[in-house]
Amino acid sequence: MNDERDSLAELEALSKQVANAIIKNDIVRLISHNDADGLSAAGIMCNALYRRGIRFQVTIVSQFDQSTIELIEKTSNGTVILCDMGSSQVELASKIKNAIIIDHHKPTGKLEHAHFNPHLIGIDGSSFLCASCGAYMVARQMGENGDLAGLALAGAIGDKQALGGANKLILDEAIENRTVTIKKGLRMGDDPIDELLEYGVDPYLDITGDKDKIKTFLDTLGIKGRLGELPEEQLIKLTSALVLKLAKQNPAAVDSLIGEVYTLNNEVVPNVFDFVNLLNACGKAEKAGLAIALCMRDASVADEARAITREHQRALISTIKKAQAEVKTARNFRYVLLDDSSGTGIIAGTMTRYLYPDKPFITLNEVEDKIKISGRGTRKLVTAGLDLAAAMREASASVGGIGGGHDVAAGASIPKGTAMKFIDTVDLIIEKQLKGKA
Ligand code: C5P
Repeated sequence: MNDERDSLAELEALSKQVANAIIKNDIVRLISHNDADGLSAAGIMCNALYRRGIRFQVTIVSQFDQSTIELIEKTSNGTVILCDMGSSQVELASKIKNAIIIDHHKPTGKLEHAHFNPHLIGIDGSSFLCASCGAYMVARQMGENGDLAGLALAGAIGDKQALGGANKLILDEAIENRTVTIKKGLRMGDDPIDELLEYGVDPYLDITGDKDKIKTFLDTLGIKGRLGELPEEQLIKLTSALVLKLAKQNPAAVDSLIGEVYTLNNEVVPNVFDFVNLLNACGKAEKAGLAIALCMRDASVADEARAITREHQRALISTIKKAQAEVKTARNFRYVLLDDSSGTGIIAGTMTRYLYPDKPFITLNEVEDKIKISGRGTRKLVTAGLDLAAAMREASASVGGIGGGHDVAAGASIPKGTAMKFIDTVDLIIEKQLKGKA
């Protein structure tokens, strides 16, 4: 209890410093990342800035690199808030004169800028406090913004963080002020069950994306309708059947299928899993404006966002199926080489969560003159010594690229033509990491 109180006091002190740096400005440039966590963080900041009367221009990027610095130099000579990026690219972030950083990636050096990062006060930001939760802590110090906690928790769910540790402090407060309510159940969206199974990748099953197989599966069980409205007896039947399927693929994944389901009472899409899917899809489909509008509670964009999400999910599932047929095995990880695909992170995550949990998975995706890389592991592998952020950083630097991220989820960008050397190098690094702890 004391530990929790100490953590909260430290988080509040750090967020106050950063909030004070923000509220001095009349106008700011806001840059964030295009996944659910980055978008929720940006959404929280947009709300807090708007309520405070601070003008802002927001841009969502797929990664923080030299092109982000060029964009900033072209479009701003004032204060820049970086969300979900900057801490682990100290050299790059230091090129921005007036930056304020709200991030949860492990810092790789010291920054002169105002800087919120849970790692600075001994909290592991890869597992227990994401960027949107950091943005929420800062927003709480900028004004009456406690109602934005649902967005913070959406980011944590999007980043697959457990709502324990520092995240739990936010969750408890949100429950107390009824911003969020919890029920137990299947951790899926609220749509008709056949659509959830057709378009969702959580869980990714042998029937995912296949209308006919899903119909047979549901008809056999005698189940039809929206998940949230199924009678209890049908819900139990469905849960057992899904658990049985998952247990055959990866029993550990059952834990993430059943558990707490969060309702975001203030948001225009209240089921947290639906909301996260919309943010991720809009971000990846380069419709980040819609995602930010959703975070600013503009219900008029929800239908368009849903249509984009369906399209994105359809394409994603077809890419995952294609990737499944082309999985290659290095000594210490599995990988796939793709061409101009989207959703590389989700592909790698789906592979480790549902199909191949025993080794990390790396997706290499050639886009124009670069190869974009996403790596995903499991908490179990991290406990065994895996640090994908370090592996990505070192292996990409060895071929003239850049990379980083978290121990369990990391990425890189390398020049075209260097994939095989990258694969060999990353294989050696991961081997050392896992042997080091064995
Ligand atoms: O792009 P993806 O979702 O795979 O990124 C996973 C993590 O790796 C994110 O935290 C992202 O910020 C980080 N990353 C990075 N450098 C890159 C690509 C991704 O630090 N070039």
